[in-house]
Amino acid sequence: MEASGHAGCGGLSTRDVSGIKMNDQIRPQPGILDIALYQGGKAHVAGVSKVVKLSSNENPFGPSDRAKAAFGQSMQTLHRYPVTDHAALRHAIAEVCGLDAGRIICGAGSDEIITFLAQAYAGPGDEVVFTEHGFLMYRISAMAAGATPVEVPERERTADVDAILAACTRATRLVFLANPNNPTGTMISTDDVARLAAGLPPQALLVLDGAYAEYVEGYDGGAALVDARQNVVMTRTFSKIYGLGGLRIGWGYGPSHVIDVLNRVRGPFNLSTTQLDVAEAAVRDQDHLVRCREENRRWRDWLAGELAALGVPSDPSQANFILARFADQAEAEACDAHLAARGLIVRQVASYKLPNCLRITVGDQAACRQVVDAVATFKGVR
Ligand SMILES: Cc1ncc(COP(=O)(O)O)c(C=O)c1O
Repeated sequence: MEASGHAGCGGLSTRDVSGIKMNDQIRPQPGILDIALYQGGKAHVAGVSKVVKLSSNENPFGPSDRAKAAFGQSMQTLHRYPVTDHAALRHAIAEVCGLDAGRIICGAGSDEIITFLAQAYAGPGDEVVFTEHGFLMYRISAMAAGATPVEVPERERTADVDAILAACTRATRLVFLANPNNPTGTMISTDDVARLAAGLPPQALLVLDGAYAEYVEGYDGGAALVDARQNVVMTRTFSKIYGLGGLRIGWGYGPSHVIDVLNRVRGPFNLSTTQLDVAEAAVRDQDHLVRCREENRRWRDWLAGELAALGVPSDPSQANFILARFADQAEAEACDAHLAARGLIVRQVASYKLPNCLRITVGDQAACRQVVDAVATFKGVR
């Protein structure tokens, strides 16, 4: 921290914190400046004009045609404010997923639901628990709320229920678990999740993040557990299998007492008419979802098998990406550079404490073949 001490805007003095001019009097809440900026997946490679983006777990097939048609239609009403209760979207989700529409809340991506949860349930002195290789937004939202992030070791890149329960204290307010998890792709059984929910201290809420739930055939994302208990909330997204990452729509499902609280912190117009209409059309087109799930499963398993044969193993993934493991960080970075030079953008995951790994989104058939060819030349096999 270096003090520059000159008069800033309005005559207030400023100083540098990590290279950014800060104001001595106008300060953020404690802990905010400790938050590491979230880095999204790269989309460009310098000097390479044609790239295949496999760095953000997006659906290579994009949204359904019905969703795209709804997007066009929504142009007619851009001058109108959206509804505040999201009733049509909530009822569509409830109908398709067999849920209670009254206990659904919609947000600008599931990120926003995660933020609402932290804002509403965690503050200074409270602890927010998540796993070692858990999604970075859990830490960010906990710190933004002034709470203490608590990271729990995983076992072989898989959440460990006993370790999570052992980490809970009287200060634990939220426990985040993505199932399947990003970036590992692993998941724990419904029985283990139920055991976790049952073993939490009474003041703690379990947040089951189902961003990749639709990729697992026959899995409800934890909805039945939400219905059975008072301490479980599920979050879901339209960004992954529904192919709508650019539009920012997510939702949560929980007990009435939680949804009521979250609606109090939610801005009334947090979703636009376009977001609402497109998401409704998307969720009503389950044929598209099933096609995407099947393609993903087929090419994910093929990709994992081919890379394993080249000496790059991964844990069995339940999601739309694989976590490719290399000998060490140097080899992972060298392979990343090799792929990037061929226009293949994947994700380094050192920030997830997995420096020797690359997370590779499952693209379409052509993209998966390109990745395998590039890894083969990297390994000197072809
Ligand atoms: C585990 C997990 N949860 C939540 C999200 C947030 O998704 P969104 O805010 O796009 O709904 C992501 C996105 O990558 C994710 O991987």
